[in-house]
Amino acid sequence: MEKRDVLKICRESGFFLDRSILDFFIELEIKEVERIIKKLKGFHINERILSKNILNKYKDRLGLKNEESRDRKNGIDILKNIKGRSGKLEAGDFVSYFRSRFESLRDILIKNGELDNLSSIRRIGRENGVFCIIGMVYSKRITKNKNLFIEVEDLTGKSIVLINKENKELFIRAQNLLLDDIVAFRVSGSNKMLFANDFIYPDAKLKKENIGDRDEFIAFVSDFHIGSKMFLEGNLMRFVDWLNGKIGDSRQKNLAQKVRYLILSGDNIEGVGVYPNQEKFLKIKGCRKQYEKLADILGMIRKDIEIVMCPGQYDAVWVGEPQSAINEKWSGDLNNMENLKLVSNPSIVKIRGLNILVYYGGSVNQFRNLISGGRDLNINDFTNEILKRRHLAPVYGEMDIIPNKNIDDLIINELPDVFVVSGQHRAMIGNYNNILTISTSCWQSRTDFETKVGSEPDPCKVPILNLKSKEIKILDFSGKDIVWESGDDLVCELEDYKK
Ligand SMILES: [Fe+2]
Repeated sequence: MEKRDVLKICRESGFFLDRSILDFFIELEIKEVERIIKKLKGFHINERILSKNILNKYKDRLGLKNEESRDRKNGIDILKNIKGRSGKLEAGDFVSYFRSRFESLRDILIKNGELDNLSSIRRIGRENGVFCIIGMVYSKRITKNKNLFIEVEDLTGKSIVLINKENKELFIRAQNLLLDDIVAFRVSGSNKMLFANDFIYPDAKLKKENIGDRDEFIAFVSDFHIGSKMFLEGNLMRFVDWLNGKIGDSRQKNLAQKVRYLILSGDNIEGVGVYPNQEKFLKIKGCRKQYEKLADILGMIRKDIEIVMCPGQYDAVWVGEPQSAINEKWSGDLNNMENLKLVSNPSIVKIRGLNILVYYGGSVNQFRNLISGGRDLNINDFTNEILKRRHLAPVYGEMDIIPNKNIDDLIINELPDVFVVSGQHRAMIGNYNNILTISTSCWQSRTDFETKVGSEPDPCKVPILNLKSKEIKILDFSGKDIVWESGDDLVCELEDYKK
């Protein structure tokens, strides 16, 4: 429902909302919001500003199972599953979209603290002073004197922030400021020109590393590209056989038994017409048939393994992000699988106490192109860049984005325990401020395109995460035998792993 309708209902009942609850209400039907507000009013509660904590406090009396939960599949709560937006977008909707993004990230920056003398841009006068401003990067260029000239915008106006080349550490960091980044600048100067002393990202820091409550494993896979001539069907079937306890040594079989969840994070099929002349690389020519093949394979997996699957850029879904779940027109038999839940890209699932942000990773290539030295960075570096900005695809226009006029679905509001990114065809593990980051491998041999751009895939590797110990193992299904990717007893040393 519309933001203004939510605000009106609450205002009329004498309540104000914080952003977390506003975003939650926007996703609900109007009748449900009216019901909750009416009940809260009837409870005669003292609180006037509603937050998620307050909703949690009264959830039993409100008849809410879990205020965040939209769906549940046994051990899995689907916390965020973005539905397709319909209706025509008008110019004003784009303004609302950017305003919403700005307000959300500004609130995160303010909540983080450390912003002395915070001012809006309009309030900075002609007198010199020291301020903090929170702004969106509107433009960026190098001046004749080789300083960095940044135009910054907030809801009250624009200002120029200059970063002096003599401040080397800051200058190097600022070169990686991207258009549309929302950061806090510590500046000195007046409304004519501001000189940056520092800048701060919203950043993602979990105070402590959370663990789940079961001795069970999640397996992370993606990029099957079913339908492609390069699809490694034999290898994927070995993975399925291993899950079913048919192959592997005794230790590997024991481990397979403990795998209770499988996350598929995009490029499930090869699709049709994704790039020019794709047809000559297709073994199965049609999305429906490709999904049928996928349903056949997933249908062979033990039924006590719960599967969550989101789309990627090769799936039969609009290529822009966010992508809603693959719809029934295409998914066919996948819909009839009781142990499978189709979700959006991105989505958030909660598995036995751990919040997992699942993202196909459409923006990773833009980071590779825009961050200085990006070609030499690894996937962990890019997941860190995303987390630091609290936005999955910050640069508008670098990739297709479908704006939602009410909220920006690509903002990372709640910090996840695990952040999964796919699409890079290489498995890699990292840890960013207590957030476990996982990049997934693929099940397709090297394509002509990958050869052309010098990209080396590393197929058939499966990261497996123990919920309780947070231990990660990577199993390699690229050969005839299943092997631990490194040594016989791989437990990743997260910081150093594959740097
Ligand atoms: Fe892929």
